Amino acid sequence: MKISKHLVVCAIFLCAGFTAVLASAAPPYVYLTYSDAPDTSIDINLLIPAKVPAVDVYYDTESRAGKTDAYINHVNAAYHQTLMELSDRRALYVAALKGLKPGTVYYFVAGEAKYGMTTERKFRTLPGGSKPLRFVNGGDMGADGRAIPLLTLAGKQDPDFGVVGGDIAYVNGLLGGYATWDRWLENWDRLMITTDGRMVPIVAAIGNHETNSFESNDLQLRAPWYTGLFGRQGTDIYYTRRFGNDLAFFFLDSGHLNSHAGAQTEWLRRELEKYKDVKYKFAAYHVPLYPAHRPFDGAGSQLGRTHWGPLFDQYGLTVAFEHHDRVFKRSKPLKGNQVVRRGTIYVGDGCFGRDPRTIDPQPRWYNAIEKDVAHFWVVDVARNGLRFKAIDDHGRTIDTFSVR
Ligand SMILES: [Fe+2]
Repeated sequence: MKISKHLVVCAIFLCAGFTAVLASAAPPYVYLTYSDAPDTSIDINLLIPAKVPAVDVYYDTESRAGKTDAYINHVNAAYHQTLMELSDRRALYVAALKGLKPGTVYYFVAGEAKYGMTTERKFRTLPGGSKPLRFVNGGDMGADGRAIPLLTLAGKQDPDFGVVGGDIAYVNGLLGGYATWDRWLENWDRLMITTDGRMVPIVAAIGNHETNSFESNDLQLRAPWYTGLFGRQGTDIYYTRRFGNDLAFFFLDSGHLNSHAGAQTEWLRRELEKYKDVKYKFAAYHVPLYPAHRPFDGAGSQLGRTHWGPLFDQYGLTVAFEHHDRVFKRSKPLKGNQVVRRGTIYVGDGCFGRDPRTIDPQPRWYNAIEKDVAHFWVVDVARNGLRFKAIDDHGRTIDTFSVR
C-alpha cells in the first residue's frame, strides 16, 4: 500500500499528541522578541514540533520570495532546552540576529528539513537615535473573545512592537495548556500584523496567570511557558530595554516569581540611577500601584507603592503601564502618593482581550478617568513629546493625552 508523505507526517504529529495546527509542513509558530538593542538586533523564535539536528534562518534586506539560496545571510538558530518540551515535545530554537541596520525591513525564511520552512516573513528594526517610534500596550489578553478584534486593531496601528503586561494566555503555568498557547501564538502571528505585512515583536512582562502553585525555587518550574517563550529578554524575569536614545523601559515582576522588595527593588534603583538622564522612563508590570477595580489597599498594590513608588517619584518615572484589574484608567499626575502638577501618570489596567470588570460610580481620587471598557494603548514616542491614545474593541478612541 502506498502511503503519501502528507499522511505519514500527519500520523507522526497525531502520535505525538500535537494539535491539528501543528500538522503543517512548516515550523508552526514563529514569533519575535528582543534580547538586545531593538534598532540593531532581533530574536527570531521558532517552535518546532520536536528537537531536530539543525534549524536554519535565511535573511536579507530584500525579498527573495522564499528561495533560500538567494538570501545573503544565513544563521543556525540555537536550540534552547525549555520545559515546553514536557508538554508535547515542542522544541524552541532562537536566531538572535545582531548587527542589523536600524529602521530597515528584513525578510526571512526559517525552518529545517523534517518539518519544512516558513513562508517569507518580514520585520523592521527600530529606527534608533531620537527618531520617532510607536508601540502598543495591553495585558490580560487570553486567546479568544475580545482578543481577536483588539489584536486586529492593534496591528493596524503599525506599531514597532507590542508590550504585553502579563496574564497573556491564561494557562496558569500548566504544561497541559499548550493548545491555549497555540491559539495565542497563532492569534498574534495572524492578527498582529501591520498594514504593510510586518510581524510585530513581543515585549512581555509576567502576570499571575503565567505561574502555577508548584512549590519550588526553580522559576522555570513555576512558570514553564513564560520562561520558555519569553525567558531570554533579560538575565532575570525583570529587565530593562532601551528603545533609542530617549526611552528607557523597565519591565518588572509584581510579585509573581520575584517579590517587589529586596533584590528586584535594589536592581530597579540601580537601573533608574543608570538611566536617570534618559528623557523618558517607562515601567510596565502587572499589578497596579493605583488600581481602578480592586481595592486601593490590596496587598499587591500596597507592595508596589511601598517599594517601587518612592523610586518612581525620585527618578521621575514618566509613565507606568499597569494591568491586572481589567478595566480602563488614566491616573492624574502622581508623586508622593498625592496628585501633583508634574508627576508619574499611571495608565491601565489591562483589558486587551478578557472581558472588562466594573469600576466605581466616580473615579477614585488618583484617577482622571476610569471606564469598564476593553482596550489597548497606542504610544508615540518622539523627542518633542509623547502621545497616548486608547482604542476600544470597536476601534473607537476612548482617551488621548500627551506629555511634553
Ligand atoms: Fe492578573
